[in-house]
Amino acid sequence: MRWIFLGPPGAGKGTQAARLAQRAGVPQIATGDMFRAAVREGTPLGLEAKRYMEAGQLVPDQVTLGLVRERLAQPDCRKGFLLDGFPRTVPQAEGLNEVLAGLGARLDGVLYFDVPDAVVVERLSGRRVCPACGATYHVRFEPPQVEGRCDRCGAELVQRSDDREETVRQRLAVYRQQTEPLVRYYREAGLLHTVDAGRPIDAVEAEIARITGVGA
Ligand code: AP5
Ligand code: ZN
Repeated sequence: MRWIFLGPPGAGKGTQAARLAQRAGVPQIATGDMFRAAVREGTPLGLEAKRYMEAGQLVPDQVTLGLVRERLAQPDCRKGFLLDGFPRTVPQAEGLNEVLAGLGARLDGVLYFDVPDAVVVERLSGRRVCPACGATYHVRFEPPQVEGRCDRCGAELVQRSDDREETVRQRLAVYRQQTEPLVRYYREAGLLHTVDAGRPIDAVEAEIARITGVGA
C-alpha cells in the first residue's frame, strides 16, 4: 500500500499514520519527524531545517525531496509506505511522481484530512510529545496514564517548539498558500479521498480503515 496523508498542521495525520502503518506493516515516512531527528543530531541538514521549522516555514523543496528520495530507496519501502506530511508543495508532488516512476511504483491514493482551523489550534495547543521515543499525546484527547510522562518509555513529555500560538498561525497560513493547492492537484489526478478529521480519534481511524481496506 502506498498512501499520502495530506492536511493542515494538527489535523491528526501523524496519529493516524502511526496506527495504520503498524496494522499494514509498512513504514511511516514523516518528513517532520525526519527533520526533527536531524535537528537533535545536529547534522548539517538539521541546522538548515531548524531555521525554517522554528519560523513555521517550509524547508526548501530540493532539500526535502533529496531526503525523501533517499528514504524511499530503502528496502523496507518495497512493500509500501505511508507518506505523512509530504508532499507539501506542487513541486514536491511532481518530484515524488518522478521518484515513484523510477521505482516502478504507483500511489494507491491520497487521504485528505479535512478539519476546521479552530480544531487545529485546540489540538496543537494541547499536544505533548515524548522527546525520547517520539510518541504523541494530547492533554485532553489522548492523555498519558501518568500526567506528563510517556506511557511507552516514562520520559517527561514536552511541547513542540513550533506549537506556540504565533508559530501555529504562521504554519496554517503557509499551509493555505503552499500546500492546499495539492487538494485540487490530487483530486484532478483521481486520487483524493476526503476524511472528516474533526471527529474523535477512533472514528477517524475507522473511516481510514474503510477507505484503505486495512481493517481497524
Ligand atoms: P510536521 O511535523 O509534518 O508538522 P505538521 O504537518 O504541521 O503536522 P503536525 O505534526 O503538527 O500534525 P499532525 O497532523 O501530524 O497531527 P497529530 O497527529 O500530531 O512538520 C513540521 C515542520 O517541518 C514544518 O512546519 C516544516 O518546517 C517542516 N517540514 C515537514 N515536512 C515538510 C515538507 N514536506 N516540506 C517542507 N517542510 C517540511 O495530532 C495533533 C494533536 O491532536 C495531538 O496531540 C493528537 O494527540 C491530537 N489528535 C489527533 N487526532 C485527534 C482527534 N481525531 N481528536 C482529538 N485529538 C486528536
Ligand atoms: Zn516515550
